[in-house]
Amino acid sequence: MSGLITLEVLVDLAYLIAAILFIAGLKGLAHPRSAVRGNLLGALGMLLAIAVTLLDQQILNWVWIVAGVAVGGIVGTILALTIKMTDMPQLVGLFNGFGGAASILVAGAVLIQLFGAADTGATTDGQTLQVTIATVASGLIGAVTFFGSLIAFGKLQGIVTEKPVRYPGEQIVKSLLLLGSIFVGVLIVLDPTQIYLYWVLVGIASVLGIFLVIPIGGADMPIVVALLNSYSGIAAAATGFVLTNNILIIAGSLVGASGIILTQIMCKAMNRSLANVLFGGVGAVVEDSDQGDIYSGRVKSTSAEEVAMILKTAQRVVFVPGYGMAVARAQTAVRQLTEIMEKDGIAVEFGIHPVAGRMPGHMNVLLAEENISYDKLREMDQINPSFPNTDVAIVLGANDVVNPIARESAGSPISGMPILDVDKARTVVVIKRSLSPGFAGIANPLFAADNTLMFFGDGKAAVEDLVSAYKDA
Ligand code: TAP
Repeated sequence: MSGLITLEVLVDLAYLIAAILFIAGLKGLAHPRSAVRGNLLGALGMLLAIAVTLLDQQILNWVWIVAGVAVGGIVGTILALTIKMTDMPQLVGLFNGFGGAASILVAGAVLIQLFGAADTGATTDGQTLQVTIATVASGLIGAVTFFGSLIAFGKLQGIVTEKPVRYPGEQIVKSLLLLGSIFVGVLIVLDPTQIYLYWVLVGIASVLGIFLVIPIGGADMPIVVALLNSYSGIAAAATGFVLTNNILIIAGSLVGASGIILTQIMCKAMNRSLANVLFGGVGAVVEDSDQGDIYSGRVKSTSAEEVAMILKTAQRVVFVPGYGMAVARAQTAVRQLTEIMEKDGIAVEFGIHPVAGRMPGHMNVLLAEENISYDKLREMDQINPSFPNTDVAIVLGANDVVNPIARESAGSPISGMPILDVDKARTVVVIKRSLSPGFAGIANPLFAADNTLMFFGDGKAAVEDLVSAYKDA
């Protein structure tokens, strides 16, 4: 009986456990309450997968492995510790790119190992065909991911222009680049000993990656990053076929599928189609000529003392955080204000829009940092019916996600985007520094509404002032 339990069986069993841990981890990540556990399960699965792969492949050169882990670990730790929360989207974008680059290099190394020597004795049997097709897919998708991610990083970091770069014949150029890479890919499959063709393929696909992302505006980069995340998973899955490694195929497929689901969720939350994001050229900052007309003579500014008085008489208060809360790092002050209001018996909740901030889950992460209970966080569909029964809605650094213009079916970049109905609350207090527009670059009639008070100031300083004024009131 024990003779049946070979090393191969044990390895496959360990891979199966790792795959189950990945899936359980992804499921955990779907809810803030279980996200930390989900992350741990996923990491545990990856540790198991790496350990078993190293044992299975009987890799002898441990010096290289330890050196690689040390260099990668140090760079990753420094990046994670020093990155600003507001720069997280570009860091995620860069990490996706590294995944694509790893796929290119691993697939290329296998190609050289198998076909690089003059007389390899390799035949074009079924397995060779699988390896060469998978290598072509790894190189092509990996290069598109790597260079596309570098452009996405550059746009978010302000190194590359945020504006959509459009030119005549754009779709033809991209189609030719895609056809060119497929053509070279076919040549590689027909004669894999011509190793240089692989690097030609990687070169053409790299240009394709740049040309795919450069026409997309900076505002749409978070969606592009999610899509490139999906591509990095597909490239990894292809590399799994190159190496005949089941767990890499499974892990890559999970990343590919979850990335595309996230992309769809983001598109839906912005009322855009993926085609419109990729080919629409939307996302440049829009010059807003009507701003003066909308606001003139109608904006009422307020003070910490006045808002504190209003809060004292409230029974139900809803915070609506947005990108400005992240910029100001106002979440600690928000927690303090929440606590003192709750001591007075005021019910406090948070309305979270799916695309508030600049990345999925941005607001949830910031509020979780402050241990604000998940029970208080309400998604858009849950909180919207309760705004007519809300005494005060405090909009903190949010703009587009509460802009009533979105309800109009056409005519603005956010037309049709579902919003948080804060304007239905009895009083709306908007905390921001000025009347400047948000990401979509358009004016917001909410700021001039009869029931809105504008509390101008930096988010953190304003909420801290509110805490003091509330205590004194
Ligand atoms: P925005 O509409 O971008 O508005 C943010 C507001 O924060 C600005 O109007 C700004 O006004 C204010 N602000 C900036 N710094 C501040 C500070 N230190 N203190 C106080 N306020 C400050 O934010 P939103 O409502 O969260 O909407 C998100 C936007 O990003 C949407 O258009 C969404 O489609 C887009 N987007 C999001 C995602 C994801 S996944 N979250 C992905 C792609 C695109 P002042 O300058 O006047 O202070």
